[in-house]
Amino acid sequence: MSDARIAAAAPQAIRREDYRQPDWLVPDIALDFDLDPAATRVRATLQVTRNGTHDRPLVLNGDGLVAVSVKTDGGDAQGWRIEGQDLVIPLPGDAHVIETEVVIAPERNTQLQGLYASSGMLCTQCEAEGFRRITFFPDRPDVLSKYKVRMTADKARFPVLLANGDPIAQGDAEGGRHWAEWHDPFPKPSYLFALVAGDLVANTGSFTTMSGREVQLGIYVRAPDLPKTDHALHALKLSMKWDEEVYGREYDLDVFNIVAVDDFNFGAMENKGLNVFNSRYILADPDTATDWDYDAIAAVVAHEYFHNWSGNRVTCRDWFQLSLKEGFTVFRDQSFSADQGSAAVKRIEDVRNLRASQFPEDAGPLAHPVRPDEYIEISNFYTATIYNKGAELIRMMATILGPSKFRAATDLYFDRFDGTAATCEDFVACMEEAGGVDLGQFRRWYSQAGTPRVSANLVQDGATARLALAQTVPPTPGQPVKEPMVLPLKIRLFGEKSGTPLTDEQLLLFDKPEQELRFEALPERAVLSINRGFSAPVIVDANRSAADLAFLSAHDDDPFARYEAMQQLMLDTLVAAVTSGKGDHAALIDAVRNTLTDPSLDRAFIAEAVLLPSDSFIGDQMAVVDPEAIYRAREALRADLGKALEGEWRAAYEGARANRFEYSPAANGARRLKNVALGYIAASGAGDAAALAYAQFDAADNMTDRQGGLATLVNGTSALREKAIQAFYQRYAGNALVLDKWFQTQAFSSRDDTLAAVETLAKHPDFTLANPNRARALIGAFSMNQRAFHDRSGRGYRFVADQLIALDRLNPQTAAKLVPPLGRWKRFDADRAALMRGELERIVASPGLSKDMFEQATKSLD
Ligand code: ARG
Ligand code: ZN
Repeated sequence: MSDARIAAAAPQAIRREDYRQPDWLVPDIALDFDLDPAATRVRATLQVTRNGTHDRPLVLNGDGLVAVSVKTDGGDAQGWRIEGQDLVIPLPGDAHVIETEVVIAPERNTQLQGLYASSGMLCTQCEAEGFRRITFFPDRPDVLSKYKVRMTADKARFPVLLANGDPIAQGDAEGGRHWAEWHDPFPKPSYLFALVAGDLVANTGSFTTMSGREVQLGIYVRAPDLPKTDHALHALKLSMKWDEEVYGREYDLDVFNIVAVDDFNFGAMENKGLNVFNSRYILADPDTATDWDYDAIAAVVAHEYFHNWSGNRVTCRDWFQLSLKEGFTVFRDQSFSADQGSAAVKRIEDVRNLRASQFPEDAGPLAHPVRPDEYIEISNFYTATIYNKGAELIRMMATILGPSKFRAATDLYFDRFDGTAATCEDFVACMEEAGGVDLGQFRRWYSQAGTPRVSANLVQDGATARLALAQTVPPTPGQPVKEPMVLPLKIRLFGEKSGTPLTDEQLLLFDKPEQELRFEALPERAVLSINRGFSAPVIVDANRSAADLAFLSAHDDDPFARYEAMQQLMLDTLVAAVTSGKGDHAALIDAVRNTLTDPSLDRAFIAEAVLLPSDSFIGDQMAVVDPEAIYRAREALRADLGKALEGEWRAAYEGARANRFEYSPAANGARRLKNVALGYIAASGAGDAAALAYAQFDAADNMTDRQGGLATLVNGTSALREKAIQAFYQRYAGNALVLDKWFQTQAFSSRDDTLAAVETLAKHPDFTLANPNRARALIGAFSMNQRAFHDRSGRGYRFVADQLIALDRLNPQTAAKLVPPLGRWKRFDADRAALMRGELERIVASPGLSKDMFEQATKSLD
């Protein structure tokens, strides 16, 4: 804690262009842990070798460590010193053995970085720079070592001892203690180190790889959670098979273990052979997990498993290359999920997520390229840009190359860089080489921040049409002027009368500021379908009429484009209503009716297509966001849709009423549509809506329906609202993951009194900032509730700033992640902007600020 603050005195930017090879390598390391929550003794033995010809000393990073002893080649080290937090040892020769000893206190580690305690177990999180909180080491991803780990701990309290690699030996020790040894034969960077000690049980299984090796699988949890691990284990097996079939990648150790922990700063971590997960991405049963949770668990299990190749076998040279592993691995997990159910719905979800998280980031003060040029605290760069925009870059290259060349290119990449620390440039070079393409200009996607904007105008004269395209990339911090990008745009024309395609789909690589496409011999008026499948992560203004959008929403043969046409129609309708104060909803109501009653569409798709854009996405379309006007326009439209189509919503609701819970694409789609329909029935003002929601809430045999009923009631004013909130709380008291949903659902409420309710919930006995999931469930969710957070009094801003200042003292990483909503002040009116800036200034001025918060808050003020 204090160590994070010392650094805040003079936070220094690290620059990509300053990269230098490591001065010293560490081919082998042996670690000996005497584990104890209050005082863990860590002895490290490092074989170090000089890298190149130089006379620089060995520098081992430390963070909050005190050296108990330092030895070189078996004797007391001479002339070593502490510089800042690092241990510096001058060494005469080219190869030495270094031994260090430190004592750390896991139970006092509230940052959850390094070795820490969670619900009685001890676990580690090292990425990006947590290993230096455990032992002195060159803590950078281009130093790869073979690890031997020995752990000794109290046998009764910590019967299970896990580390990376394969178990080698174990035995009993004196005083009720025992020990275990693990060896990892694969050289790895320190950020992939992990150990876990705890009273855990495992759901075990096995997987036979494509070359016939048997791998033992284990999902470790506390005993009461064991029944909730089948889904994760199943997802793991599916992932292992999928990576063999789709990428030719086989698992390489004899064991693969996953441990679920309750206190975790993010989703999960791909430590070699020992993934550590936030328990929300492992534990599931129908009563406590929603369909969304089930899907997310499979996706995160796949993501971390896929890192074994994209991240571990081939790792990153430095943290500027983070998207090399994260963008690629997100692309891989998205493809995996698409293959498990509806690819169209998965694409819609991914794009919605990109627009909700990455587009605002790219348009705000924290915008940065997919390969950043500098950072103060690397933890702040685990962003939607690195992950999700990074995945879009891989997707675009896959589109440009086509499936077989893309596969050849990833094979080349894995073969060429196996066992090394690579760069984004290495990846792109493999794409070029195996794909036979020139990606020179495409590389701007890695260096230029900001979401490109495309304007597309189709003008038809008789049988000939011209499509005029223009692109711009907006200025972003540090990048005032931009060059044109390569935008792979999938385009097709449809006949307005016939409702059928007039052209084949074409892939245009649009790479100039302006370009024109000509279409000849068109037999009828054409309607433009562009950026089909969201082939490029850009904002398209295609200037299409409501009639054309309605037409596409009914006739486009690309499901994403169909969804997109409806979304655009909704956005146009809402933006017009916000600016004029009056909405014309007729065209949209017809389009929604068509979609809702189209028997050829699956329910999950319908549910996505008829969902209104969020308040914040509507706000993103406006010059100055007016949260109240947006809320009113959206509610008015919801009410009109609800009333005009009440019969259709009720039919959809009844038709999707599943009998018994089942996790399958069809059953999930039915629940999704049912809950969207319930929301519209409530919006219609129907007198029985609350009773319907309560009945669903009460009788549900699964969490999707229970939470769906609860959410509808929580947004309303019925007397059943309080009853449901109480019943839910009582039913799940003691289940932390479900209580998170209880807090979050109330924080998302669209009611007038949400701000006051959230202030009260922050004082609830079950609320704590010490658990990141809980902090995000209330504070994070509230700050995404555009209307409540932006209450014109500024109380919402003050509340969040107070919480973040308090959270920063415990856990800077999690606190810093919650700053961005306050940083959006430029998008609001002068009064709100001043209030938001005031809170950011208060954060910057608060004593002992971490460098994580310092970077996020000061950049947000610019
Ligand atoms: N590499 C992990 C993943 O699979 C996340 C690690 C996040 N680390 C951080 N410092 N934010 O995505
Ligand atoms: Zn990852």
